[in-house]
Amino acid sequence: MISARLEKIVALVPKGANVADVGSDHCLVPIALACKGEVGYLQAIDNKIGPFNTMEKAVVEAGMEKRIDLSLSSGLTCLDPRVDTIVIAGMGGALTLQILNEGKKKLESIEYIISDPHKDLEKSRRGIVALGYYIEEEEIVYEDDLYYFLIRYKKGAAPKYSKKDWMFGPIIRKKRPELYKKFLLEQKRRVQSLLAKPLSLDARHHYDVMLSTINEELCR
Ligand SMILES: C[S@@+](CC[C@H](N)C(=O)[O-])C[C@H]1O[C@@H](n2cnc3c(N)ncnc32)[C@H](O)[C@@H]1O
Repeated sequence: MISARLEKIVALVPKGANVADVGSDHCLVPIALACKGEVGYLQAIDNKIGPFNTMEKAVVEAGMEKRIDLSLSSGLTCLDPRVDTIVIAGMGGALTLQILNEGKKKLESIEYIISDPHKDLEKSRRGIVALGYYIEEEEIVYEDDLYYFLIRYKKGAAPKYSKKDWMFGPIIRKKRPELYKKFLLEQKRRVQSLLAKPLSLDARHHYDVMLSTINEELCR
């Protein structure tokens, strides 16, 4: 059984893709993709020996040693040349972006990037779009007390995104699922509780602006 978040990530992988799961840890995504049977080549990458051993054990237990290539390496350094789709999930936006920027040259052959940063979302959206991608699909999942925005980027010119698109996600803003409204209400409560505390003038201004942005987004 995989979690709702990982299930949605699997669903975001295009049919026929040749996939590398970067920071694979338990290898659940490549194994689920192999079971689904709609993708081509599969590689699971992790840079630490503990997670690498976990991946190896999971792949052996699933009888998929010949189906999934395992790599103990950092980021995109040992990315297989067949890969055209990168899944990079379960980490913050800053680390996601750092790994992609460090492996920038390898992105030439990458058509899709699927990520789900639970923090630094605006920074990671801006950064991945700056690498030559646009936001093609977005989903939202609530798991372990966190809202995850799952994002599929596709290579190509991006439209002009507004400040709110960068903050909240252009596709989620269009789709407006119920969970997105819950997310906004939670953000509103969080900012209101911060504003109830003593703050510097700059910080108060920052949170005032954030609160009105959230209110505008809620009332749209
Ligand atoms: C929290 S786990 C996420 C596992 C899985 N992708 C998920 O979404 O549930 C993050 C994994 O990324 C790995 N990682 C961190 N930095 C990495 C890097 N530069 N290259 C490869 N793997 C990395 C960690 O070792 C860890 O196993």
